[in-house]
Amino acid sequence: MNQLLSPGWAWYVAILTVVSLLGCLWVLRANSIKKDPGADAKLHGHNEWDGLREYDNPLPRWWSNLFYLTVFFSFGYLLLYPGLVVFPGLLNWTTESLYKDEVKQAKAEFDPIFDAYAKQDVKTVAADKGAVQIGARLFQTYCVQCHGTDMRGSKGFPNLVDGDWLYAGTPEGIEETILNGRNGVMPPFGEALKADQIQDVAQYVLSLSGRAGSADAAKRGEATFKETCAACHGADGRGNQALGAPNLTDNIWLYGGSLATIVETITKGRQGQMPAHKDLIGPARVHVLAAYVYAQAQEHGGPSAKP
Ligand code: HEC
Ligand code: HEC
Repeated sequence: MNQLLSPGWAWYVAILTVVSLLGCLWVLRANSIKKDPGADAKLHGHNEWDGLREYDNPLPRWWSNLFYLTVFFSFGYLLLYPGLVVFPGLLNWTTESLYKDEVKQAKAEFDPIFDAYAKQDVKTVAADKGAVQIGARLFQTYCVQCHGTDMRGSKGFPNLVDGDWLYAGTPEGIEETILNGRNGVMPPFGEALKADQIQDVAQYVLSLSGRAGSADAAKRGEATFKETCAACHGADGRGNQALGAPNLTDNIWLYGGSLATIVETITKGRQGQMPAHKDLIGPARVHVLAAYVYAQAQEHGGPSAKP
């Protein structure tokens, strides 16, 4: 359908177009006929420039024929294509059908490639150079806005190549993350805990990654941690991949490891969301992406990347 605001405009454009083309024909014809056959060409009445004067001759035949051709071409074009808007054209061509054809063509071309990878396990695909190149392009299209072109993420968006995993960093774990998404829920403790309790437990979190803080406060915080936080982050603070609760001992931070940020995290909570991509790009492409992420993590993540 046409995208003009009201169908009246479509007719306005269509009529204007046809009338203009007919007008072109009329102008051409009027200028091609000698007004007074047999008579010598007359001079135009208007001015003379440096001794040059203009005869009132018809246009040269070859010249006007070219013009006729363009006009007939226009009519042919408007007959075949939807140039008039009110008439879809004999070919029924639309940009939408063009798009659909291209998608069909791309599917026919690329689906067999993805289907072949889908039959192999992620590790095997990760060792395939061609697959990794395809994965890199998919990553540039679907993932960089959150995880960055270098895969190193930013605040709230995890670094995928540091060897530290919120969720399982196994090939299957990564694929599961991309397929179904993840929802990390760190509850807010601003009401459940008093301000000085939060300060103390934050000091304890600092001490977990071996950083200087107040030893007394950390000691007090340890009790709160065991009581309130250990259920998710583990008694030793090393986290729990089933919940996406980060390891708090490795000095790698999703939101930030300064005292102020840790206090903010504990007070207000956090809700990191990794969107599901199963329906968006289909499981076959997710499979190749998982292989790409796994391969990159192996390459850049060092020995700790090994699950
Ligand atoms: C219900 C489980 C749960 C409990 C209880 C919990 N956390 Fe968390 N915590 C999480 C999850 C999940 C995340 C990651 C949130 C995300 O991915 O957005 C997180 C994130 C954090 C972070 C941010 C880490 C980073 O890398 O930036 C800190 C710090 C933290 N928690 C400290 C605590 C402390 C201290 C307590 C106790 C007062 C606590 N958590 C209690 C689940 C929990
Ligand atoms: C809208 C932003 C967004 C997009 C787009 C996105 N992600 Fe994520 N991703 C996240 C967030 C946020 C998390 C962390 C979730 C949490 O805090 O629990 C995450 C987590 C992950 C993890 C788990 C990391 C770990 O440490 O366990 C992987 C793997 C991942 N994403 C891969 C991808 C891939 C591959 C794509 C592209 C198909 C992608 N992501 C697209 C936001 C995004």
